[in-house]
Amino acid sequence: MRPRRFLPAGPLKGRIRVPGDKSISHRSIMLGALAVGETRVTGLLEGEDVLATAAAMRAMGASVERMDDGEWRVNGVGVGALLQPEGPVDMGNSGTSTRLLMGLVASHPINVSFTGDASLSKRPMGRVIDPLSEMGASFEASEGGRLPLIVRGASPAVPITYRLPVASAQVKSAILLAGLNTPGETTVIEPVPTRDHSERMLKGFGADLTVTVEADGTRVITIKGEAELKPQVIDVPGDPSSAAFFIVAALVTPGSEVVIENVGLNPTRAGLVELLRQMGGQIEFLNEREVGGEPVADLLVRHSALKGIEVDPAIAPAMIDEFPVLFVAASLAEGVTVTSGLDELRVKESDRLAAMAAALTLAGSQIEEREDGLVITGTGGTPLPGTATDAQVTTHLDHRIAMSMAVAGLVSSGGVEVDDTRPIATSFPNFEDLLASLAG
Ligand code: S3P
Repeated sequence: MRPRRFLPAGPLKGRIRVPGDKSISHRSIMLGALAVGETRVTGLLEGEDVLATAAAMRAMGASVERMDDGEWRVNGVGVGALLQPEGPVDMGNSGTSTRLLMGLVASHPINVSFTGDASLSKRPMGRVIDPLSEMGASFEASEGGRLPLIVRGASPAVPITYRLPVASAQVKSAILLAGLNTPGETTVIEPVPTRDHSERMLKGFGADLTVTVEADGTRVITIKGEAELKPQVIDVPGDPSSAAFFIVAALVTPGSEVVIENVGLNPTRAGLVELLRQMGGQIEFLNEREVGGEPVADLLVRHSALKGIEVDPAIAPAMIDEFPVLFVAASLAEGVTVTSGLDELRVKESDRLAAMAAALTLAGSQIEEREDGLVITGTGGTPLPGTATDAQVTTHLDHRIAMSMAVAGLVSSGGVEVDDTRPIATSFPNFEDLLASLAG
């Protein structure tokens, strides 16, 4: 364990650049590993989760290498040609690696054993086991459909049409990736839109993929199997989910003015910015442009008096990873913030409703935990008391709990002590350095 007390600090001033998008980084390595030829990736997130994906793709035959200048080169094996790994693949803390790779393996004639850390081993995999079983793969999972588990791929797999029972980009992507090596057309019906990086990147690599949007907003995504992917040159934009910590930090810390460069603003990811603006947050987009087929801008964020808000649950999929830090913003806003429809937060790296309710309560915030959301009464900008000298926030191996509570520490009287900062390295290895650089 690596505990740390995050002390009050600020104002935050300066320009930073956050690491590459985690979702896009995973996908660029996976699709590069399935293309024939060399894919070159710049801006890749070199966090533990993405490195777990890289190691798994190597174990299945691809070459994945980092050049001295930071560019990554992936030499793929071709769709259908993944090799049987010699031993279990260790997914660490990464749900995205696990679920997407289960999809890839499901339509290849290989058997792969997946293992992970204590957090990942508690997370439900039934949501991908169900559709992939329909495609012909078989599974030997631990109790409750959990890791460690073995996937036995089907060859050939059977194309399916699957309506997503939960709004999950990981489940959608697992099925589409399985569809890559499945004869015929595999279709995913998505009643509630989730992040669409897989669709964008599959098209970019030359897969025959179509998306139609029905009158009620339902998306129907079809991929033609036995695809041939062409290698690509990819520039990964900055991760909006990592930028989120600094957006909130600048908004809540008096006197702050921060520019966060190169932030991905794909509409399926940009919910937090929209919501914080509704709460009164001053966030300006500068230099709007496209990077790697994704909309990007530099964000100018100034300290703002935030107001509590009733959050429309419809926005949740576009900011699903940002609720922990939104709860911190709400704790310092004026008035009450009500969130609902957030059952999915209970099955992330931790139960994020319970973990954040406990953490913020410990730091002196007024929180009511409900089945599907939190109700937070903010201080109107008055610093939170912070955690007592003998108390520590429990992060439960969840990077976003640790970083959110680090932000809470900035606007606290006595600081906020987090029990373990190691999980931060899964998605944002230089988070603490960037925070220190802005606090001057
Ligand atoms: C991700 C999808 C989301 C998100 C996760 C990354 C992805 O998970 O929480 O951090 O890259 O597809 P769900 O599909 O479980 O919502």
